[in-house]
Order: sequence, then structure tokens, then C-alpha cells
Amino acid sequence: MKYYILFGPPGAGKGTQASAMVQKYNLCHLSTGELLRSEIAAGTPLGLQAKALIEAGSLVPDEVVEGMIEAKFQGTEGVDGFLLDGFPRTIAQAEALDAMLAKTGEAVTAVVSIMIPDAMIHERIAHRATIEGRADDARPEVVENRIRTYHDKTEPLVGFYKETGRYNEIDGVGTIAEVQGRIFDLMDRF
Ligand code: AP5
Ligand code: MG
Repeated sequence: MKYYILFGPPGAGKGTQASAMVQKYNLCHLSTGELLRSEIAAGTPLGLQAKALIEAGSLVPDEVVEGMIEAKFQGTEGVDGFLLDGFPRTIAQAEALDAMLAKTGEAVTAVVSIMIPDAMIHERIAHRATIEGRADDARPEVVENRIRTYHDKTEPLVGFYKETGRYNEIDGVGTIAEVQGRIFDLMDRF
């Protein structure tokens, strides 16, 4: 199995690019943000625990997302691999992922990192707020907290994965089709 990490700040275009990637490479798309939003919508205990944290733009506890991901790894068949979107988001989650995969002698295949400047994060999220109605897109202070949380807790993963030699960065500035072309050029090598 292939294990791709789709990495990048809020609003970089991870969800947007994921749909074409999963089709072309027969992958299962696992977005921890989407899984958590489904739990909230269904009113599960996990959703209730996550709701306030997500709506404040803070991370949910590592164990919560690690458990969700491991359950999906075990329950998914008929694909050539997984596209992890928004996971891992802390060094602890990256270490937990390595430990999960090591149980079956597997490892992360590659990190595909979509990078955009902070000013563009604001533009894209403001645009999406008018379309999708996500609770964590509506308030500027929450978007600020998501960006701060990304820089503090998630960006250290760039160094973590550079050390493994599996880190690949894509320029996320451009049209959706241009960014997709850059991603496909990269993915075709794996
Ligand atoms: P999550 O859902 O993962 O949100 P995020 O990381 O903030 O990323 P987004 O979904 O906002 O951005 P995206 O990169 O998918 O951009 P998109 O393609 O939509 O997480 C939400 C919350 O859940 C977290 O804050 C946290 O609380 C919790 N959580 C999730 N995972 C967790 C974890 N592992 N650990 C702990 N907590 C976790 O694009 C954005 C907009 O831009 C769209 O409108 C799109 O149409 C547009 N767009 C995209 N590409 C382009 C382009 N090239 N040109 C112009 N517009 C574009
Ligand atoms: Mg997304």
C-alpha cells in the first residue's frame, strides 16, 4: 500500500486537489477535518468533544485523530493506498503514524506539500466562507488561530519529513489546474 501525506496550511487547496488525486491513483481519501465534521453533524460523543476545539481553530487531541485513522486503515479495501489530508498535524501524530505502519512493515511513501503565503490563506478561506458555511471559516480570529496553530504545531513536520527524504514541495499559487499539473508530475514518479 502507498501512504501519501497531503500537507499544507489551511486553505492551501488540500481538499480541492485530493479528489483528482484519489481518482487517478486509486487512493482512499482520509481527511481528518472531514471525518471530524461528520462526527459533529451526527452528534456523536467524539463529535461533541471535538466541536468546541474546531470552532475555536484549535487542534483536537492527538489520540482522537490517531484512532480514527487507524480504524480507516483497517476497514478499507480495494484501493492502492491512502491519501492523508490534514493528518499528521503534530510531531506526535507523525510518530504515531510511523508506529501504526511499522506494525505491518510499511512506511510513509511521500509527503506532497502544497505551499501558499499567509495572505493567500486569508483570501481563499474568506472566499470559501461565502460558499461552504464551515463554522471555523466564519470568524477572522478563528482563522488567525488556525494559521498560528499551523505555524506552531504543524510546520515543524516539514523538518521531520525532510530528514526522512520523503518531503516534496509544490507551489500552491496558480489556478487549480496548474497546481494539479504540478502534483501529477510529482506523483507519477512514485
Ligand atoms: P481541516 O478540515 O483539515 O482544515 P485545514 O487544515 O484548516 O484545511 P482546509 O480544509 O481549511 O483547507 P484545504 O487545504 O483543504 O483547502 P481547500 O481545498 O478547501 O481541519 C479543520 C479542523 O479540524 C482543524 O482546525 C482542527 O481543529 C481539526 N483537525 C483536523 N485534523 C486534525 C488533526 N490531524 N489533529 C488535530 N486536529 C485536527 O481550498 C480552500 C478554498 O480555496 C476553497 O474555496 C477552494 O475552492 C479554493 N482554492 C483551492 N485551490 C485554489 C487555487 N489553486 N486557486 C484559487 N482558489 C483555490
Ligand atoms: Mg480541507
